[in-house]
Amino acid sequence: MNVYDSARMADVLAPLGYELSDQPDDADMVILNTCHIREKAAEKVYSELGRLRQFKNKKAETGEAMILAVAGCVAQAEGEEVFARAPFIDMVFGPQTYHRLPEMIAKATRSSGGVLDIDFPAEAKFDSLPAASGTDTRSAFLTVQEGCDKFCTFCVVPYTRGAEFSRPAKDVLADARRLVADGVCEITLLGQNVNNYHGEGPGTQEWGLGRLIHALAEIDGLARIRYTTSYPADVDDELIAAHRDVPALMPFLHLPVQSGSDRILKAMNRRHDSSDYRRLVEQLRAARPDLALSSDFIVGFPGETDDDFAQTLNLVDEIGFVQAYSFKYSPRPGTPAAEYDRQVDDEEKTGRLLRLQDLLNKQQRSFNESLVGKTLPVLFDRHGRFEDQLVGRSPYMQPVHIDGGANLFGRIVDVHIKAGFANSLAGEVSESIGGAATGEPPNDAKERISA
Ligand code: 5AD
Ligand code: SF4
Repeated sequence: MNVYDSARMADVLAPLGYELSDQPDDADMVILNTCHIREKAAEKVYSELGRLRQFKNKKAETGEAMILAVAGCVAQAEGEEVFARAPFIDMVFGPQTYHRLPEMIAKATRSSGGVLDIDFPAEAKFDSLPAASGTDTRSAFLTVQEGCDKFCTFCVVPYTRGAEFSRPAKDVLADARRLVADGVCEITLLGQNVNNYHGEGPGTQEWGLGRLIHALAEIDGLARIRYTTSYPADVDDELIAAHRDVPALMPFLHLPVQSGSDRILKAMNRRHDSSDYRRLVEQLRAARPDLALSSDFIVGFPGETDDDFAQTLNLVDEIGFVQAYSFKYSPRPGTPAAEYDRQVDDEEKTGRLLRLQDLLNKQQRSFNESLVGKTLPVLFDRHGRFEDQLVGRSPYMQPVHIDGGANLFGRIVDVHIKAGFANSLAGEVSESIGGAATGEPPNDAKERISA
């Protein structure tokens, strides 16, 4: 979501004459779009600010100014504290305020003090943001829902991103049509709780995510739909049916479980237990047998015993994940779990994390290896590290590398998989398969791709 938000900030700033730059040293403005989810992510902000300060000072020596800003959830959570720790910062603003950037910049350039904006304004941010601008990628993010009302006891998101809000279906569809007209053929719908989407539909109806996916699938040229991140207890029958009925909905689902222990899930205030999760996976796999699952795990939540941890390993063993993110529990200020007794010591957390990751890595590698010999449609949207190498995504989200094939950039092509590694696949496009490329980009996109 931060990637998407950064792109929206660039849209707001374009009319003011700002362009993206990958050279922070002589930029007129540097915005750090930050994450507060774990302590490590939040602390990184301050070390990065120290580095950027050097650039700002250098520019000042030549009589030029650099606006240095902190955006995102660290800004939202820490507010004034950011100025206290880094007084050389010009602006601190939260995720709900990006549409007000022009005003903030005007204030920051006029005044000598820092500008702080961490309100949750009454007006909907999305109504005040410019339409998503042209993109030169074939795969785009699209926020459909923001915020979270779940209050898992470890998590800062409900405090930093605020209450759940779903964008009206017609706005989402209009954005999606615009993206497809710009050459996008894969859209990932975003939301902290994306499957609790309940946007205003036509008339007085509310649409759920399943309904929205059906409508998106009707857009000509939109070949692939994905969504992230989902909350297991909010997966409804309509969404499960969409996995069965909508071929464009890719067979990959990120469905965070967090733990395999019912006791811990309860203490986390998750609204599912391990059997609910198992049942849900069964239903999803019945709907889409090749569905590949990914998940999030937290180890060392307060009170987690060896036995609780063993139940997490059991669940992983039983379900089989093709990829996953796993973290040591990080106490976050203001969240209930940070105050719980029986915090697990760091060494124990590290040991459990390594064991869990070992199992997850094995599952990931064995899934990747199981695809060798198969032919998969791959959307090529990146150049590889080596000259003449193209990288794309399989339906199951793995990066797939091929050598050569520059003319296939931006297209969905059938690839014969030759090797499976820890994190990626390698393949080749045979002559006959190469001719069968699908997902032909529209004319204007084709020009941009060949340019
Ligand atoms: N400590 C560790 N991991 C966390 N996550 C969220 N909050 C914390 C925390 N305090 C993880 C969860 C979530 C993912 C985005 O980050 O697994 O699903
Ligand atoms: Fe955080 Fe996700 Fe729980 Fe919401 S559902 S509180 S975003 S972990």
